[in-house]
Amino acid sequence: MSNEASTTRAAAPDSLTGHVYDGIQEYDNPTPGWWTMIFALSFVWACFYWVRYELNTTPPTVFGEWEDDVAEANRAMFAKLGDLKGDEQTLLSMGRNADWMPVGASIFKANCAACHGRQGQGDVGSNLTDDAFKNVKVITDIPSVVRAGANNMAMPAWRGRLTENEIILVSAYVASLRGTNVPGRVPEGTVIPAWPALVSPAAPVMPTGAAK
Ligand code: HEC
Repeated sequence: MSNEASTTRAAAPDSLTGHVYDGIQEYDNPTPGWWTMIFALSFVWACFYWVRYELNTTPPTVFGEWEDDVAEANRAMFAKLGDLKGDEQTLLSMGRNADWMPVGASIFKANCAACHGRQGQGDVGSNLTDDAFKNVKVITDIPSVVRAGANNMAMPAWRGRLTENEIILVSAYVASLRGTNVPGRVPEGTVIPAWPALVSPAAPVMPTGAAK
């Protein structure tokens, strides 16, 4: 079979260009059309690439585009919220707000869980799920501690690193962890009075302790 095939091939020799260089002849075998097309397209693409990434002094990167998108999404999200005040009722109602507590929880997981544990049970940082506190006497002390830090910055200051809205949302989340009593670091400081009652809940409210 293979003999037959090679005979067939030999029987139809490729045409020659007619060029002869010191007795060496040249086949007339142009590159296939599809190949030439890909070559041409890659050249066109390279022109766009060169303008966008080489001529541009600050070429866009995927990381930059991702950060822009995140910042844009945050702006849109917080525009709905307005500027939160860190007062008692805002902290209490936000701590039970079904729309916003997932945001508070994710700020906590991203920035606080490394020291306070994923459930607030404490590690390097205090256990935030019991009734004893060292720096907190009333609920509004939570955002103050978060803004300014405590104990010679063993607890870092977050003012400037988190926006004021983020500080209030994460503080409301921390306040909501109280009483979940997750076993972890032993209670430190003094037992403080229960948080005051929530007077006028901002809709929609979820059951206490559901913000996990
Ligand atoms: C680098 C570790 C670290 C990180 C990160 C951290 N904390 Fe702390 N935090 C501590 C330590 C340590 C203390 C205890 C300070 C003290 O001994 O007075 C503390 C104390 C606190 C207290 C006061 C507790 C009390 O008993 O009075 C609150 C509230 C708190 N942190 C919230 C947060 C929040 C919210 C975040 C994230 C935005 C956060 N922390 C991130 C280490 C940390």
